Amino acid sequence: MISMRFQFVFLIASMLSATVANAAEIPSIAKSPAGGQLILNGKPYLILGGELGNSSAGTAEQADTILPRIAQMHVNTVLMPVAWEQIEPTEGNFDFSILDHWIDVARQQHLHLVVLWFGSWKNSVSSYAPAWVKQDTKRFPRAISADPSQLEILSTLGEETLKSDSQAFFTLMRHIREKDQDQQTILMVQVENEVGYLGRGRDRSDAANRLFARPVPIELIQKLQSARDSFSPELRAHFNPSGTTWSAVFGDAANEVFMAWNYARYIQEVATQGKRAYPLPMYVNCQLPAPAERAGEYPSGGPHPYYLAVYRVTAPALDFFSPDIYWPNFEYWIDRYRFNGNAVFVPEARLEAAPYNAFYAYGEAGAFGFSPFAIESAPITPDEHDAGPNLASVYALLSSFSDILPALQAAGSTRAIVLHSNSPRPTQTVSLGGYLFQAALSRSWPAKALLEEDGALIILHTAANEFYIAGSGLTVSFYRDPDVDAKISGITSVEEVARSNGAWTTIRRLNGDQTDQGRQLSLAPHQVQAYRVVLYSTDQH
Ligand code: DGJ
Repeated sequence: MISMRFQFVFLIASMLSATVANAAEIPSIAKSPAGGQLILNGKPYLILGGELGNSSAGTAEQADTILPRIAQMHVNTVLMPVAWEQIEPTEGNFDFSILDHWIDVARQQHLHLVVLWFGSWKNSVSSYAPAWVKQDTKRFPRAISADPSQLEILSTLGEETLKSDSQAFFTLMRHIREKDQDQQTILMVQVENEVGYLGRGRDRSDAANRLFARPVPIELIQKLQSARDSFSPELRAHFNPSGTTWSAVFGDAANEVFMAWNYARYIQEVATQGKRAYPLPMYVNCQLPAPAERAGEYPSGGPHPYYLAVYRVTAPALDFFSPDIYWPNFEYWIDRYRFNGNAVFVPEARLEAAPYNAFYAYGEAGAFGFSPFAIESAPITPDEHDAGPNLASVYALLSSFSDILPALQAAGSTRAIVLHSNSPRPTQTVSLGGYLFQAALSRSWPAKALLEEDGALIILHTAANEFYIAGSGLTVSFYRDPDVDAKISGITSVEEVARSNGAWTTIRRLNGDQTDQGRQLSLAPHQVQAYRVVLYSTDQH
């Protein structure tokens, strides 16, 4: 009898391993101290992305007009919402027909998709929950404000809410596995959207008040203690592990950390159930605080950098954490997500600034993906808008060397600069491969002038003294880095180049006026272009 049971278990185990061996490798995140990469079919995959506006993926037909247009922009991955109310309009009855059509059209257009699970929360509020959830406030309790009144925000402490959201998400992921695991059109999934409590302090429901009156769980304190090395300055300033109450342990951040812990616990369970069905990479996105905003004015307890360690220790089912960057200081916010082992991915960003910020994301922040919001409204051709380079041409350029970019990112062989015409900083300098690259928004030829548009560039260090520089609107001067040695340096050659099918070709060799008599590289404004620059350094005698 025992041996028959053993044989049966063995048979099931070998059937399972055969299924796994036959299935295509599931996309995954490869983490490294420098960040991380998305691995697709065994190779790093660079997402040149765009997120759809909120009302652009609610019908199947919208896919037919929107996706072919986006495909012309050299976007390779579209981030699309899938709403809980759309897939489970009545409890227990699921309808994936809209999503299935989007997947079919995405395949025809050679696009990948990232699914955004608008479940219990979207921008803090529970507007995408089905009517049967919204209407039953007893079974699916709401967060309560300080007034006190019921908010249209589901409480993180509703047990039935967690069960129903997790079940819906599990069913969605199981459907995606059945439809897509062989083709892998869908690369990753965002769990909920910009969560956090809106209102003063925290949820004041009875359940939340009871939990807040209890000591901080010792397990949370211990896990945070062991993650101390990766604390943000904000958490470091507040954390007192010898306290017991939330206020004693987290000071005046108590309400916010309490909410972060509750959202993280909830999302951990939803993500875990989803991964049980199909373990695609999963992440959360964050509405970032504005300067001087108080928690609750921005979503309190969201996965923003201040108290992100709480998410990291509470929600290990999440593969990485992402910022939605609409604020002008893009560089500051993306850099705050470059902590040890976090794969950098920007799911939402301001579309108008995207042609510049894309360079920073890939070149300086080591991002494996960048995705401006409302991508369907971006112009396809440069002449649809007069100012600046457009995103389609930036993505065309970046995709021409996306085969070599991930390895260069991982080796620390890329840098980037973005300069804004209204910025008080007229130049910026970065160091790479033994040289300093100083960029300015100025022109020395045909006339000395300051450009009025922004400018951006990415630098790839491909061999000793050899660099590819791509971008728009900046003038670059080169110096030997005095921290490397005391040599003098100069330009050996500058060529305008293009890359296709894995090979560079030279379009023009630049010299004389076009390099300010061998002194500088000028990146034309309004368009994007790549150049190969070879520098030399030699001893001074
Ligand atoms: C951030 C949200 O995550 C998006 O779904 C969308 O509402 C944008 N804000 C709109 O600006």
